[in-house]
Amino acid sequence: MISENSQSLRIVITGGSSGIGEAVSLEMAKDKHSFYLTGRNEQRLKEVCEKLTSMGCKAYYGVGDVSDEQAVNSMLEDIKSNLGGVDVVFANAGVGHFGNLEDLTIEQYDESFNVNVRGVFLWLNKTLPMLKSQNKGHLIVTSSNLGLKTGARCSLYAATKHAVQAMVWSLRDELKGTGVKAATINPGSVDTSWFDGKDVDRSKMLAVEDIAKAVRFIIDQDETSDIDHILLLPGKE
Ligand SMILES: NC(=O)c1ccc[n+]([C@@H]2O[C@H](COP(=O)([O-])OP(=O)(O)OC[C@H]3O[C@@H](n4cnc5c(N)ncnc54)[C@H](OP(=O)(O)O)[C@@H]3O)[C@@H](O)[C@H]2O)c1
Repeated sequence: MISENSQSLRIVITGGSSGIGEAVSLEMAKDKHSFYLTGRNEQRLKEVCEKLTSMGCKAYYGVGDVSDEQAVNSMLEDIKSNLGGVDVVFANAGVGHFGNLEDLTIEQYDESFNVNVRGVFLWLNKTLPMLKSQNKGHLIVTSSNLGLKTGARCSLYAATKHAVQAMVWSLRDELKGTGVKAATINPGSVDTSWFDGKDVDRSKMLAVEDIAKAVRFIIDQDETSDIDHILLLPGKE
């Protein structure tokens, strides 16, 4: 149900085909916003868009690699023609390669930095002018608790998340005096397909819905606040 004060927002979600991105779209769809989801898996994107449409929202998707500038440019054109602009960018697509540093490969390095850092840079870089021209809007990046600390077997992943953490913190300084806000969410382990087939106890992880509520809190904050980051750790020991 839409409250009288709620305004319909145009929300772009990279990595909207599954996991945290999908959960955020479903949480925000309760307020009948409009959505543009990106990812490479067209079937999954279609399925999530159908769920959003069944909840009474407008929902579109774009297929492509988040780190491919041409693909991002063409999705931005699609966003402009379907939604007329953007109010919230949730730069969420990401991959995780974990292991001791000497066991990681250059291919894993390239994919990690391309998706987790270049992909975030491209989407922020190309949507900022639209948000700044409106003098309002949100840029929200999925970082990690490993954007704020380090740990064994996390060198590559933590390096990418520290990179986007630094990117957002610098951007926040550039946005001072504007109505545009930038923030990160920093979850610990979240029960998503990342852990499929792995011998780990998923019952003690964060649920995707926990992250979706945190993102809603950032999007719904009043003008009087400017959330910097939200660190979420699993509640069960
Ligand atoms: N799960 C955790 O424990 C955890 C903890 C902290 C932070 N995070 C962060 O949360 C974010 C979402 O991950 P998740 O856990 O929800 O996993 P997920 O379900 O695997 O979602 C990852 C999303 O990223 C997209 N993606 C991956 N590579 C891409 C590429 N090259 N081009 C375009 N899209 C790409 C995937 O879409 P397609 O498959 O359709 O391409 C998918 O929608 C990531 O940034 C991750 O680092 C996860």
